[in-house]
Amino acid sequence: MKLKSILMATAIMMLTSCSLIAQNSKNSQNSKTLVMYFSWGGTTEKMAKMISSSNGGELFRIEPTKAYPTSYTPCTEVVKEELDNGIFRQVKKAPDFSKYDTIFVGVPVWWHTAPTLMTHFLEENKEALKGKTIIPFCTYQATYRAETLQAIVDATPTASHKEGYGTTNPNQNDVDAWLKKIGLGK
Ligand SMILES: Cc1cc2nc3c(=O)[nH]c(=O)nc-3n(C[C@H](O)[C@H](O)[C@H](O)COP(=O)(O)O)c2cc1C
Repeated sequence: MKLKSILMATAIMMLTSCSLIAQNSKNSQNSKTLVMYFSWGGTTEKMAKMISSSNGGELFRIEPTKAYPTSYTPCTEVVKEELDNGIFRQVKKAPDFSKYDTIFVGVPVWWHTAPTLMTHFLEENKEALKGKTIIPFCTYQATYRAETLQAIVDATPTASHKEGYGTTNPNQNDVDAWLKKIGLGK
């Protein structure tokens, strides 16, 4: 009877430690990935959440200190005016980049490129992004996907890069296929 209890207790301890090891290895595999994004209307955020649900990366939403207009046409006008005049908005809060090795950077296409809110912020953080792996992603309505992904690459010259992805309509299957292709999928 005593031997039976000892054997049972040992089996329970072994099962518990196996599950802890599995849990820890899952966490350490995912804890170094950041999914940082700016989203005005929610589509890029939807895609960021798909990336995070696939690879466990931590989500971080970039927000401007001064919000953009909430209606579409006024927003396009304000952004165009800022672009023409070289005006940059600052971000409210930055993530602690030192915690991550791999950083997904997502934006909507704005006037044929990435919003300067993000590119300017990336350029300001050149030192903190040194040696990181940056992976750009974007959502857009019709065109300028490649230019926008490239703008994120250009704004992070001290980092290395993996192939980015852009879409007009994010869906989990396509996101998973891209992540798998670049070696960061399930
Ligand atoms: C200021 C502004 C400029 C835009 N410029 C473009 C553009 O040049 N090309 C394009 O295909 N879509 C453009 N769009 C559409 C957005 O890229 C598209 O709706 C995107 O998916 C929105 O992402 P979000 O919901 O995360 O903000 C623009 C939208 C806004 C608000």
